[in-house]
Amino acid sequence: MSPHETVHVALGARSYDVLVGEDLLATAGDHIAPLMQLDRTIVVTDENVAPRHLETLQRSLSDAGIASDAIVLPPGDGTKNFTQLHGLIDRLLSCRIERASTLIALGGGVIGDLAGFAAAIILRGIDYIQIPTTLLAQVDSSVGGKTAINAAQGKNLIGAFHQPRLVLADIGVLDTLPGRELLAGYAEVVKYGLIDDPDFFAWLEEHGPAIHDGDRSARRKAVVWSCRSKANIVSADEREAGQRALLNLGHTFGHALEAQAGYSDNLLHGEGVAIGMAMAFDLSVRMGLCPAEDAARVRRHFAAVGLPAGLDAVQGTDWNPRALLAHMGRDKKVRDGQMTFILVRGIGQAFSCRDVATRDILATLENFVPS
Ligand code: GLY
Repeated sequence: MSPHETVHVALGARSYDVLVGEDLLATAGDHIAPLMQLDRTIVVTDENVAPRHLETLQRSLSDAGIASDAIVLPPGDGTKNFTQLHGLIDRLLSCRIERASTLIALGGGVIGDLAGFAAAIILRGIDYIQIPTTLLAQVDSSVGGKTAINAAQGKNLIGAFHQPRLVLADIGVLDTLPGRELLAGYAEVVKYGLIDDPDFFAWLEEHGPAIHDGDRSARRKAVVWSCRSKANIVSADEREAGQRALLNLGHTFGHALEAQAGYSDNLLHGEGVAIGMAMAFDLSVRMGLCPAEDAARVRRHFAAVGLPAGLDAVQGTDWNPRALLAHMGRDKKVRDGQMTFILVRGIGQAFSCRDVATRDILATLENFVPS
């Protein structure tokens, strides 16, 4: 097997490659050095990732003649806020950052989004490289240039489109990822099958358990397949004028669930997306758009790999349907006061819809609230 596979994100002058393979962390310097204008860089990471992977990355950079400093931030979604962004920018400026500097984001979606946003605004924009260390970041957040922090009013409400120069997705780092995190990231993998690729969904039905049991070849194939899907969508619609919105399948519901859970560990983002996708299928069936068997097949697959498809699996939160509806009304995809839903005509047939009756949304939410 070749050491890595390359997925190209075609965006004209902002094009870049996503490399997927093993040992990419240990050889990162070789891939990064040709893109660097200076022989020093700053790695932004968090306290969970640093002990596992920072030394390997810094050694590889140093072997390639690149000196590096590291900024290590607290882990968790709470880090994606103005206070941490301010602190990060302050430290970057103190580290003599220049227009020609390149930042490296080493971590999951929180670090990628925060460091990417800092790179987008510091000195009016500098280069950055994504080294995602979670499955969710490898298949979704590190690719496509969405960067953001959260606001009191909701998730990812302050941000910028700023494409990375390179993404290095090292499959080996997934071995050290806690099982719950891996599973949460897997929801975003399934999403690509549900949006427009029924063959991928069928492949996941067969190989999903192997992915969770640590089969590196299956993991690599799933990450490459997902990154190809994402690259195609982003290349066609970088700024979400149309097709890219399909990547929000499960997210209007999912973000509301996360908000109601207080962005706590009760519900990880990917778990919210999984339940949100089950809700989107339920709503589509309810509206007479999708065969009930397709919704049941999705729930069966989630059960087979251990992903939650309902709220009964999530403890410690009051799942009030009206409160969830209110959160949905604050989503950034609201247009002219109307919510946008990604619905389905079946597995692999997602589409965007603004014409959804509140009574149907409430009926779906009520169907999922534990009795
Ligand atoms: N995570 C959705 C997107 O990148 O558009």
